[in-house]
Amino acid sequence: MRNILVTGGAGFIGSHLVRLLVNKYPEYRIVNLDKLTYAGNLANLRDVEGCPNYVFVKADICDFPAMQRIFSEYGIDGVIHLAAESHVDRSIKDPFSFARTNVMGTLSLLQAAKLAWEGSYDDKLFYHVSTDEVYGSLPADGGFFTEKTKYDPHSPYSASKASSDHFVRAYHDTYGLPIKLSNCSNNYGAFQFPEKLIPLFINNIRHNKPLPVYGSGENVRDWLFVEDHARAIDLIFHEGKVGETYNIGGFNEWRNIDLIKVIIRVTDRLLGRPEGASLPLITYVADRAGHDVRYAIDSTKLKEELGWEPSLQFEEGIEKTVKWYLENQQWLDDVTSGEYEKYYENMYGRES
Ligand code: NAD
Ligand code: TYD
Repeated sequence: MRNILVTGGAGFIGSHLVRLLVNKYPEYRIVNLDKLTYAGNLANLRDVEGCPNYVFVKADICDFPAMQRIFSEYGIDGVIHLAAESHVDRSIKDPFSFARTNVMGTLSLLQAAKLAWEGSYDDKLFYHVSTDEVYGSLPADGGFFTEKTKYDPHSPYSASKASSDHFVRAYHDTYGLPIKLSNCSNNYGAFQFPEKLIPLFINNIRHNKPLPVYGSGENVRDWLFVEDHARAIDLIFHEGKVGETYNIGGFNEWRNIDLIKVIIRVTDRLLGRPEGASLPLITYVADRAGHDVRYAIDSTKLKEELGWEPSLQFEEGIEKTVKWYLENQQWLDDVTSGEYEKYYENMYGRES
């Protein structure tokens, strides 16, 4: 039996990963540890709530004594760490909470793992799920981030994730803690909080609200379907080499404005509106401060060493995603109205 601690399991990517692990490994115990911030939503996991190999624990990763208790109570032997503050715009407004959770919280988990496992690191693993944004920004006209690209973060979010990556490596190099890291491109799919581009725009189109395009709309992001990311994490956790980093991406670059037009086309069609009906909602607004020009991931290492490839073509992934948000309008309404907070407040109590 393995006792796997997944942090941030009530968030967007974490909930897909928890679902995959709970269903695929009935012999494991999956402990989902989450503070349930605005981004954590237990409604994302209703289908696994009753599974015998699933446990939810409400806790803050910055609470070091609580982390020590959890390692000991559940006999944790593997960690997949996703809990984080994750939205760049929020990091610009409130960098402190990003340093607190992403840096200090990661450090608190690392130290709890080290103390719990010291003396016998056999079969133990601390896996940090990180972002390609730590590598900085690529020119519009070429190049890719590889695992060897120098870190050059620009936003408070990416600076905090870069710092946490460095701490993870420092625990490996200094104390021998068995670690793995992955750095992934932008994810899209079901259960993403509608502050991020794709669910925000689908929701705004639904309500005929303006679609705020930052700057010229020419910034480029590399988009990956979230379930493909979860599959990659599972593969790296089980088969990746200890001490190594893997880049995860789908070789799927889009200029924001082109992506937005695809979202409009698909959403209008699924809503039964005439083609192009929502194009006038596009509204150019002031650019994001320090807006990275382009991200593009080279995931050749993951493909060649572990045989991972994205399973979905982008058009198919976007179609599935738009459909999901339109078929789950209640979920969107709940997370934007605060209903979901009441749901878990009732179930687990809530910290102020
Ligand atoms: P998210 O914001 O949807 O979820 C984060 C989760 O962490 C939430 O459930 C939240 O309640 C929890 N959390 C926050 N602070 C906490 C704390 N102090 N203690 C315990 N739990 C806490 O984020 P996401 O988009 O699912 O991203 C998950 C991870 O993947 C993050 O580490 C992020 O940096 C990384 N990542 C995200 C993307 C992306 O496109 N979304 C891409 C690459 C990497
Ligand atoms: P986002 O989903 O916030 O992800 P990230 O900043 O981590 O890449 O944004 C994706 C891209 O879309 C990014 O270039 C910023 C841009 N964007 C807008 O133009 N308008 C918006 O309202 C949002 C949220 C993002």
